[in-house]
Amino acid sequence: MTPQAASKAIAEICALAPVVPVLVIRDPAHARPLAEALIAGGVPVLEVTLRTPAALAAIAEMARVPGGRVGAGTVLTPDDARAARAAGAAFAVSPGATDGLLEACEAEGLPLLPGAATASEAMRLLARGYSVQKFFPAEAAGGVPALKALSGPIPQVRFCPTGGVTPANAPAYLGLGNTICVGGSWIATAEMMTAEDWSGIEARARDAAALGGAPPKTSA
Ligand code: 3PG
Repeated sequence: MTPQAASKAIAEICALAPVVPVLVIRDPAHARPLAEALIAGGVPVLEVTLRTPAALAAIAEMARVPGGRVGAGTVLTPDDARAARAAGAAFAVSPGATDGLLEACEAEGLPLLPGAATASEAMRLLARGYSVQKFFPAEAAGGVPALKALSGPIPQVRFCPTGGVTPANAPAYLGLGNTICVGGSWIATAEMMTAEDWSGIEARARDAAALGGAPPKTSA
């Protein structure tokens, strides 16, 4: 898969909802009810971080829930990319980018949302063909003003800001012309998962889905 094709696929996935929940799943039994709650709430694009032993099994289970698009987050190495693909991930997200990771995702046909925090990082990815990037760590890297500033010299790149995004600051990000969606962990916190508070998670998903305003028009 070319970087251009990967960015096209990522753009289509990001267009499905204004917010991508970033999920840290510790109990594989949580995977299905969690996915069902998020999808029912109108948030179908799910990023399962490869930070727990349960992550790959959770991706495999969640990928079977109708209506969702399940990807792997915290994909750092070529081995991570191959494992995510084998588990059934539809896409991958990384906090930054290395040549090895980019090559592995391209070879695997796994659409990657690669991370960038500076103009040079964004330019380097763009030069390779990645026009959709994760802006990470969004708040720590300057937040809305930084992302807005990047849109002047590098308007070709659209971003998914992640890291410190909240329901309070998400509308400002989503109002930027170069923001395609945002990512965040607030929709399904560790506490809510431990409590198996699926209705609470569905309610947060519903609120997050509404951050995008009217549902996107389907293309004719
Ligand atoms: C992460 O690193 O876990 C993601 O970027 C989400 O960050 P957040 O917890 O600040 O939403």
